[in-house]
Amino acid sequence: MTLLRVLQERLRAACVDCGINEVDAERASLSHAADLRFGDYQSNVAMVLSKSVKRSPRDLAEDLKASIRVEDLGEVEIAGPGFLNFRVSAPAYANRLTEMMGDDRLGVEPVESPQRIVIDFSAPNVAKPMHVGHLRSTFIGDSLARIGRFLGHEIISDNHIGDWGTQFGMVIWAWKRSLDRTSLQDNPLNELLRLYRSASEQCGEDDMVREDCRQELVALQHGDEENLSIWRECVKLSREGLAVIYDRLGVSFDHWLGESSYNDRLSAVVDDLVETGLARESDGAICVFSRGSEDPGVDPFKIQKDGDWEDKPMIVRKSDGGFNYATTDIATVDYRMEELEADAAWYVVDHRQGDHFRQLFAVAERRGCQMGLEHVSFGTILGKDGKPLKTRSGDLPLLSDLLDDAVEAARKSSEGRSRVEKQEERDALAELIGISAIKFMELSHHRTSDYIFDLDKMVSMEGDTAPYLQYSYVRCRSIFAKLEGDYVPAGTGFELSEEKEVHLVRMLVRFGEVVPVVLEGFRPNLLAGYLLDLARAYHSFFQSCPVLKSQGAIRDTRLALCELTSRVLRQGLHLLGIEVPERM
Ligand code: ARG
Repeated sequence: MTLLRVLQERLRAACVDCGINEVDAERASLSHAADLRFGDYQSNVAMVLSKSVKRSPRDLAEDLKASIRVEDLGEVEIAGPGFLNFRVSAPAYANRLTEMMGDDRLGVEPVESPQRIVIDFSAPNVAKPMHVGHLRSTFIGDSLARIGRFLGHEIISDNHIGDWGTQFGMVIWAWKRSLDRTSLQDNPLNELLRLYRSASEQCGEDDMVREDCRQELVALQHGDEENLSIWRECVKLSREGLAVIYDRLGVSFDHWLGESSYNDRLSAVVDDLVETGLARESDGAICVFSRGSEDPGVDPFKIQKDGDWEDKPMIVRKSDGGFNYATTDIATVDYRMEELEADAAWYVVDHRQGDHFRQLFAVAERRGCQMGLEHVSFGTILGKDGKPLKTRSGDLPLLSDLLDDAVEAARKSSEGRSRVEKQEERDALAELIGISAIKFMELSHHRTSDYIFDLDKMVSMEGDTAPYLQYSYVRCRSIFAKLEGDYVPAGTGFELSEEKEVHLVRMLVRFGEVVPVVLEGFRPNLLAGYLLDLARAYHSFFQSCPVLKSQGAIRDTRLALCELTSRVLRQGLHLLGIEVPERM
């Protein structure tokens, strides 16, 4: 059990001993101390619960201090109006070090009730550029999937690619007129994008072209053989092109159930919505409306216009008979609940789709959906000018270009200081570091905040970056290369004599306390921030505590600290989708 949980349980027992009923005692909680000068953990339980036992917080705190059993762990102090501060002793931390050394899970306990969770992430659109927004979704979703699995959930990762939609009208139109076969072979994603862009440009200038594109789409939707076969080829080539990118990113999916996988289910979904009275006809379209039972401010089917609330229905079948993105998403909810038997579905999608998901979840609820549905939204990546990231020509930057730039920046930043000599290994290292750098920059920010895409900053070894953590790992490991003979870790008998050692263990044991919290509110940035704190604790330990030159139990302890730090860094980074090199 983590220290946090042990203390929590002891605190709850003490509450009951002090006359607090069990239900209230369950609310007694503990957190990491905001200021380490006062201890390791703190609790405001005396303030929260004093009223229920008609005591002053200070009085209750005194009683709790007298009854809580912590002799084996450390001591308790009361501060201010009734805060309880817990300080963990060096011997207690040394015991924890022993436990953690022998634990493959490094103190991270599996959850008590594992769930089957679908994580819907990445989901780029065929023939449209995979851009920075998809990058955020890919990294956040992949990291949530890794963490969820590590915690014992059954995670089903699903790439809900946009492989059916209005863009195909344009792509097919351009394909028939100006397809360049060679370039399609060489770089399918680029050629499809070129076709899409050229058609969309001409649509903007010429209404006839727009009408032709629409006709191509209608023909596709009605099963026209030629259009279907073009579509099939587009999807196949796109998926192959995307697979190359995911490979480079180290991301994989259990399923690629794109939008088109649900085509067969759409008309039944709409019929069902109509039959159950959830949708009705309006101007030839079939729509879901507000029920009027909610305050318009929170009603997903209302929108404010010129001071008035207007209907904002969810259109599930257009007046021309076509289905929408929304219809597909309703069918997808059904599939995930009925066929995949999932307990929850998490959608890692841009915050601009917030209204769509609020409507979708409301419809799902009206249809009796039992799954826990979450929109894990995220903000925008900005350029150095503080505006959404664009290329010089004003387009959205392509993902593959961003990756290449990051790898180049990583190569430049390591020039002159890398210890790695072989060109091949240096190339592989630049690739690893460049891509890790973007991932870490992403995951170290709270997902809803916007951040500036600054390549030089993210590949720097000095800041809050992936290379800094990877270097910290390499540094931990380098000690072992200098050892004579194999390293056989001491199993017990650790002794913490320096404050810097104690602090490093304090940070190490927090790993088991931080990882589970990431899923509360979907915050990989908590783990990223923790790893930075750990690395800092390590460097300050390493600067003032000689390892190889020390003796006996002190040496064993310090070697164990290096070993464990390297293991936590490697595992923690792995949970963020980042691997570590052995040399840099
Ligand atoms: N393809 C969509 C886009 O690029 C994202 C899909 C997200 N998933 C979903 N089930 N709607 O905007």
